[in-house]
Amino acid sequence: MSKHQIVVVVGSLRRDSWNKKLANAIATMGPADCAFHHLRIDDLPLYNQDDDEKPAESVKRLKGEIQAAHGLLFVTPEYNRSIPGVLKNALDHASRPYGQNAWAGKPAGVIGASIGAQGTSMAQQHLRNVLAYLDVPTMGQPEAFIQVKEGWFDKDGKIADSGSRAFVQKWLDQYVAWVKRFAPGGPLPVSSDSGARAKSSESAGATRSK
Ligand code: FNR
Repeated sequence: MSKHQIVVVVGSLRRDSWNKKLANAIATMGPADCAFHHLRIDDLPLYNQDDDEKPAESVKRLKGEIQAAHGLLFVTPEYNRSIPGVLKNALDHASRPYGQNAWAGKPAGVIGASIGAQGTSMAQQHLRNVLAYLDVPTMGQPEAFIQVKEGWFDKDGKIADSGSRAFVQKWLDQYVAWVKRFAPGGPLPVSSDSGARAKSSESAGATRSK
């Protein structure tokens, strides 16, 4: 079966990252016709425009993997009310040289987990701003602002609480539908509940944004 190839960009390099765990859990919840592949960003040099003509091997790999993908999944923490520098570095690398933006046109979803009550909402908003400039069509709704704490994942890495798991599953289902709308062969028929979806901005964990 040919699969929708989704590259996952985790905005944390931390060994025990909540966001890495969330990305891994999401990958196990996807449909059989989607394959999730983590983009490596920890070996990218700091972006320097002087290197545009002679990019590092890690930069060429990054851009090649993005270009081969059908969809982008960003799973990021919030650092000081914005996105982590490592994520911005990766975004900048794959956007250059000018006119050779690898992100352009790839449908994306944005989700994130934080120990804070706002669940990465400001980081996600900053990321959306960058993605808009990079010509990345990003799913608007539903949003998912996840507050994590010890026990949020079970020992197998699955989302422990059934309500939170259902919330993320619903978000993922909508994200997969979003990616498929951009697949060769054209968009899927618009579902009759799209109006209801536009009002369904929610958070999982301890907070709900209403
Ligand atoms: C944080 N953290 C944080 N949390 C938040 O909700 N809003 C914020 O602005 C920040 N700012 C921030 C800055 C820096 C430099 C660090 C290291 C941390 C806390 C953050 O949510 C927490 O460390 C998460 O565990 C980070 O995600 P990972 O690495 O577990 O995926």
